[in-house]
Formats: sequence, structure tokens, C-alpha cells
Amino acid sequence: MTFGEADESSFMHNVGATEATSFKVMERALELGITFWDTANIYGQDGLSEKIIGNWFASSGKRDEVILATKFRFRMHDGPNGAGASRGHIMNAIEGSLRRLQTDRIDLYQIHMQDSSVAEEETLRALDDLVKQGKVRYIGLSNYTAYRMVESLWTSKSLSLEPFVAAQMQYSLLCRDIEREHIPYAKKCGLGILPWSPLASGFLSGKYRENDEPPAGSRLATWSDRRKAFDTSQNWAIIEVVRAVAKEIDATPSAVALAWLLSKPIVSSVIIGARTIAQLEENAAAVTLTIPDALLQRLEEVSKPHIGYPYDFIARVEG
Ligand SMILES: NC(=O)c1ccc[n+]([C@@H]2O[C@H](COP(=O)([O-])OP(=O)(O)OC[C@H]3O[C@@H](n4cnc5c(N)ncnc54)[C@H](OP(=O)(O)O)[C@@H]3O)[C@@H](O)[C@H]2O)c1
Repeated sequence: MTFGEADESSFMHNVGATEATSFKVMERALELGITFWDTANIYGQDGLSEKIIGNWFASSGKRDEVILATKFRFRMHDGPNGAGASRGHIMNAIEGSLRRLQTDRIDLYQIHMQDSSVAEEETLRALDDLVKQGKVRYIGLSNYTAYRMVESLWTSKSLSLEPFVAAQMQYSLLCRDIEREHIPYAKKCGLGILPWSPLASGFLSGKYRENDEPPAGSRLATWSDRRKAFDTSQNWAIIEVVRAVAKEIDATPSAVALAWLLSKPIVSSVIIGARTIAQLEENAAAVTLTIPDALLQRLEEVSKPHIGYPYDFIARVEG
């Protein structure tokens, strides 16, 4: 999502990297062993992120070294087939992504958010066709309610259609909502969790301070609404514990926040957003970082979400 310098029409305006830096990030990522790459047709304007990745594949010849994931669902052009999860949009969207990415198949094709106006069966039948045609290897979901996720997996099973194998969901020390429903169900049915915004847009890097202005040029300096939403006493308490844990084990706050996610077996891969080589290298250090159990417990405690009814009722009895 951080690839490309999008114009004012895109939500990624002023928070992305140049094409040259994006190329260096991809090169360095492969050297570090990072082989799962995620993008989406709407990142940057007019598929800019996909175009940059496609340009890099064409110049490097390294397409086959990457497990490539992209997404469809949000609006790409005007008209009834310009967005959504209908057969019409999916068949258009895949061709656009393949063309921009300069490849003949997508390894993981994800629906970016549930489309409540389209029957899940229609979406699954279209995606199943793409797998049969060889244009897509596996399918994944993103930003689904738990009830829709269950409905989807049951529909695939009963109709013998390709099932979603991964759920790309917001998950971090600041946002643990999916622990109520999505994760217990994912564990039961073998769905992998791919956390997005694992550093809460950089907040968990520790570079933001409660009473200071955000660093110039940072994402949360540009996305002021999101910064305001993060400005809660619990979030600042989380940051303090992340900093303290980092100090104790001689790591950076970013690596600690990412290693907390990696410590969870249900997490298949953490989708980091690196805008520079320095950020990429700092974040990749999480892979070899083991946080001792007592410190993991401190992170769990300070970031504990309010679980609400009926989860609290069940937890009192079952633990
Ligand atoms: N499915 C979805 O709906 C959805 C939604 C969002 C994202 N995603 C996916 O998830 C990926 C990651 O999301 P994200 O970009 O929000 O992840 P993130 O890791 O929470 O935030 C990334 C941003 O944080 C800052 N940052 C990263 N590492 C840092 C470090 N070590 N030190 C200081 N600052 C650091 C950088 O911003 P600055 O340098 O600009 O401050 C960077 O652009 C995206 O690229 C996209 O593929 C999916």
C-alpha cells in the first residue's frame, strides 16, 4: 500500500514511497527472505501500487520468487461493474490486476471487504471459476464480519467450491477485536490470519508522543483523524509497555509489536508496511525476536480489549 506517490485523489497521498524507493524495498525484502507480498487494485490511484510491482517484476525477472496477493472490491471506475463482489466486477477486476502486475496469475486473490449486497454464493462461484481457469491459485477474504465468514465457508463446503484460506484483518496491540469471533473460528476451520496495519499505521513504532506534535512527514501527521482516534489513555499505556519491553530485551518498539503478533500460531504472516529501507530492516528484525513469556503477558494485559457480552459471561465459566 505504501508503494507509489499518489495524487490528492487517493487516500495514500503524501504517505507513500517513490517508485525508485519501492523498487529498493522489494529488492531488499527478497534478500531478507520476505516472499509474501500484498497489494490491492485501489492502492495509489489507478492501480499505482500494482503497476509499480508489475514494473519491478518486468525489470527484475523475479516474479516466481514471490507469493503475490492482491485484492478487488472497492471502486475502480464508474458504472455498475466498477466495484463490488458481483461476477461482473470480479471478471473485470482480475484482468486489470493481471495486466498491471504483468503476470499470468495471482497467488492469493482477496476480496477487500464483504459486499453485503451480493449473495456470497455468487462471489464464490466467480472466484472458483478463476481458480479453475488458472488465473488465481488461492482465495482469501478481508474485512468480513464473523457471521459472513462462517456463512462463506459453509457455502463453499456445501457447494464444493474453493474456500477462502486466509483472512486479512486489522490486528495489532491496538486493535484486538478479532479475538472475539474471527480467531476462534479460524482456529476451528484452519483459516490463516494475515494482520494488516500491524503497527497501527506506525503508532506502535513509538515515534509518536502523547503531548508532542507528530514527526513531520509521518503518516499520522497526514492522517490527523486517525491520530485523534488513537489518542486514548489505553493506547498511550500500551505504547509505554511496548517501549519498556523493547528496552528490556534490547529491541525496538516496532520489532516488539510485530513479534507479539508472530508469537500467535494462528498468524500465518504479518503484512508490514515499510516506506523506507530502514523501516523494512527494523521491522524484519521481529522474525528472530523471541519475547519471554512474562513480557508477553505484560503486553497481553495492557492491551486487553473490552470483550462484552456474551463473551464475558462465557469466559467467567470457561476461562
Ligand atoms: N485489507 C485491508 O483493508 C488493509 C488495510 C490497510 C493495510 N493493508 C495492508 O497491510 C499493509 C500494512 O499496513 P500499514 O501500512 O497500515 O502497516 P503499519 O505497519 O501499521 O504502518 C506502516 C507505516 O508505519 C510507519 N512505519 C513502519 N515501520 C516503521 C518503523 N520501523 N519506524 C517508524 N515508522 C514505521 C510508516 O509510515 P510513515 O513513515 O509514513 O510514518 C509506514 O508506512 C499495507 O501495505 C497493505 O498491504 C490492508
